Amino acid sequence: MRSLVDLIRSPLLSGQTRNLPRYRELVHRFQQAILSGQLNAGEQLPSTRELAEELGVSRNTIKNAYELLHAEGYIDTRKGSGSYVANLPEHLLQKTDRLPLAKNTLNVTHLSRRADKVSANSGLKLQPAMAALDQFPMQAWKRCVNVAQASRGLLQSAPLAGDELLREAIVKHLLIRRGVQADSSQVVITSGSQEALYLVSRLLLKAGDEVLVEAPGYQGTYDVVAQTGACIQSISWQALQQQPENTSNARLLCLTPSRNFPLGHTLSLSSRLTLLAWAEQHQSWILEDDFDCEFATGPVVSALLGLSQNQYARQRVIYTGTFSRTVFPALRLGYVVLPKELVEPFLILRNRVDGGLSRLPQHTLAHFMFSGEYSRHLKKMRQLYQRRRAAMEKALAASDLADWRIIDAGGGMYLVLAMPETSDDVGLCQSLAQQGFGVRPLSVYDPLTRQPGLVLGFSAEPEVKLASLVMELAALIGAYQTVHTQ
Ligand SMILES: Cc1ncc(COP(=O)(O)O)c(C=O)c1O
Repeated sequence: MRSLVDLIRSPLLSGQTRNLPRYRELVHRFQQAILSGQLNAGEQLPSTRELAEELGVSRNTIKNAYELLHAEGYIDTRKGSGSYVANLPEHLLQKTDRLPLAKNTLNVTHLSRRADKVSANSGLKLQPAMAALDQFPMQAWKRCVNVAQASRGLLQSAPLAGDELLREAIVKHLLIRRGVQADSSQVVITSGSQEALYLVSRLLLKAGDEVLVEAPGYQGTYDVVAQTGACIQSISWQALQQQPENTSNARLLCLTPSRNFPLGHTLSLSSRLTLLAWAEQHQSWILEDDFDCEFATGPVVSALLGLSQNQYARQRVIYTGTFSRTVFPALRLGYVVLPKELVEPFLILRNRVDGGLSRLPQHTLAHFMFSGEYSRHLKKMRQLYQRRRAAMEKALAASDLADWRIIDAGGGMYLVLAMPETSDDVGLCQSLAQQGFGVRPLSVYDPLTRQPGLVLGFSAEPEVKLASLVMELAALIGAYQTVHTQ
């Protein structure tokens, strides 16, 4: 116990971590100690009470830290007997030395003129991943707009990488909430993660390159990667959890490791370490799309990029984030955190595409974040979406859809219902769209299994309306099935 407490008390690795909340700081120290082999598999951790007394912090702080470490797979808890360091593959735990930079194979020339399909968000019922816009703190936002507008200096265009204050706000946010230590020079503001995905694939890929995309996964990733002429191979969520065998030649792997889209699962710590080791060994890139992780159930695991920074000096992870779900969709702002050597080529490419984004919304968002309004809003929405999910689950259980299993990991802004194997979920959703429902077919997200199902949004629907919406949906589905099974 004594040596463990000393270890956890030892000086922080970076001055930046001093800004972290107490429990995050502890998580960071434990992660370091486990990943560097200072704490061994099976080693028992002190009880929350003992450690709280030793460190002079509250028991809740230790509890929160243990909860997050458990959720991230660093420790196991056994009922009645305490917490233990998890059993992680030994060979993945050594720190890797800085490697020489690979020769520059970046591609900034193959720009296609093909336009992306634009998806319309038009207030459809039960549409997945729609923010509760009636709950958005308009007054606070207006104050931030006024502050941003008051500065004549802001009439100048923003740097190509984006408004400096917003990039700083993102750096702080990533450190506190996602366990990522970035420098603002690595952050580039984009018009959502879609643009980031697009530019990253244009930058890194040429025709014929092999790319792995998780399945199920976001269709937009397939679309942008396909435009480069790269060969896309889907990799199942199960294969990602095991040692992926056929990954060796891939130049890029795209995934949502903290919260799979749309099933919400979290990739285990062992798998995350395996993928990082694979990327390092094969000089491949990993594109981490950190989509709606803010609304996971339980503690939100740190980003893959944060883990990578603990392990490797040279980054192979490119991280994208978006404000479309956490602020409001019309804002169209997101960002990418790039490894240092990719920043310049990325900006050259970006300059050819749009020359940077409008400054006022960026600066407004920066004030929204620095004033604490963003964190408050996130917290409130997390609680609200949890209540809405519970109401939705209750309504489904009481409806004719009760036999269809919920197969996603919980939390989030939508839930996923599995349909019987032979169902035509695409046809059903097309028919539902004509009745004003924005429900999405699950099969379109998984080219490997084409498992039919429904992705049902609940985040934008008031709790009181959910029961009647589910009844209406169940009745429409019943009618559709009657016609299509005759
Ligand atoms: C998993 C995933 N990643 C990225 C995006 C793109 O988000 P943005 O609105 O920031 O372009 C979406 C949009 O639905 C998504 O579902």
